[in-house]
Amino acid sequence: MQNSQLQTALTGRPVISATGLFTPAETITNDELVASFNAFVDRHNTAHADAIAAGEAEALTHSSAEFIEKASGIKARHVMSKAPILDPATMAPRWAERGNDELSVMAEIGVAAARQALARAGRDAKDVDAVLCAASNMERAYPAMAIEIQQALGIDGFGFDMNVACSSATFGIQTAADYIRAGNARSVLVVSPEITSGHLNWRDRDSHFIFGDVATAVLVEDAAIAPAQHWDILGTKLKTVFSNNIRNNFGFLNRAHPETADNADKLFLQEGRKVFKEVVPMVAQMILDEADRLAIDPHTLRRLWLHQANAGMNRLISHKVLGHEASEDESPTVLDTYGNTSSAGSIIAFHLHHDDLVAGDTGLICSFGAGYSAGTVFVRKVGQG
Ligand code: COA
Repeated sequence: MQNSQLQTALTGRPVISATGLFTPAETITNDELVASFNAFVDRHNTAHADAIAAGEAEALTHSSAEFIEKASGIKARHVMSKAPILDPATMAPRWAERGNDELSVMAEIGVAAARQALARAGRDAKDVDAVLCAASNMERAYPAMAIEIQQALGIDGFGFDMNVACSSATFGIQTAADYIRAGNARSVLVVSPEITSGHLNWRDRDSHFIFGDVATAVLVEDAAIAPAQHWDILGTKLKTVFSNNIRNNFGFLNRAHPETADNADKLFLQEGRKVFKEVVPMVAQMILDEADRLAIDPHTLRRLWLHQANAGMNRLISHKVLGHEASEDESPTVLDTYGNTSSAGSIIAFHLHHDDLVAGDTGLICSFGAGYSAGTVFVRKVGQG
């Protein structure tokens, strides 16, 4: 940032100046995933054949690539560590533990996404005021991932972690926008490194196909210092309603009852069908209410960048909002190749599918998930390019 820009009077109007994306190189297709899962099932059933025959244990059932694509829309996912996930004897990510003097894995991919956002905005890291690490899981309790990312980027300011599961990024954007609105910051990075392969139970037939790894970054700034091309944030809205239908009981108090430390509830668990039924109407109504508050006709929305958990959910929500079946152009899908990337999903969709919009186009970034939680960010494009 030039000194003249730094001295510009702030407007208190938050905008998205740029976004960044880090995508892991390795991918797992549904066929690869199902082959590994079914090999695990066969091994398990062979090892427990006597107990199964005696009716003392239940045989596990094969998974199916056709079911996965039909039920979710997911065809593949990126992961940080493919081979051990597909090894039926391991079925979890594996890499060497890093020392305290090395950059953490979450920080590393967060920094990669953040650097891209900064480069796209033409922003020098030293002119950023704050870093929010907004994600579903943190690599450790403390020090905050955000502070490590802040240090790696050379930012003089403050940072903290926040976790609102799949809605972490939109909650982070509102928090950043509120700093801008209050005049407490000019430039805030919202970084969402989502290494969901670490919380996914790859041995659970109901959910083993859901998640993928990625990192996104959103640079939220005062309009006064933003690059010529940016996105005005017209309004943000957050909502939470308690539900046990998506739950993960992993936590620091697990050691108080070590006998259950390895149980399935210490990883991601959900009642997917209930989530589908309850979240779709909640989110559709929330979007319509917020559009009404902002005096935006929802039928005029040029594009919806929706949370990427299930193609069917997005079809229903976008239909209710737009008043007709949304085209791929109106509601782009990224979950087919990325899977569910938790809070990063709607940001990936925005990052990959916004260049073609023109000045004045209005769109919506929307996330939803565990909590339940949901967040909306209505945006309007400013400038051409
Ligand atoms: N392979 C083959 N069949 C499978 C299977 C698999 N991997 N997993 C489940 N099935 C079977 C079930 O046994 C069931 O069989 P039945 O009808 O004979 O009992 C059938 O498929 C339907 O199972 P169900 O769990 O009801 O599937 P679904 O249609 O609800 O789809 C989800 C599952 C998870 C894809 C879907 O519920 C979903 O995406 N929900 C929303 C999730 C969400 O947004 N979560 C937020 C996370 S952040």
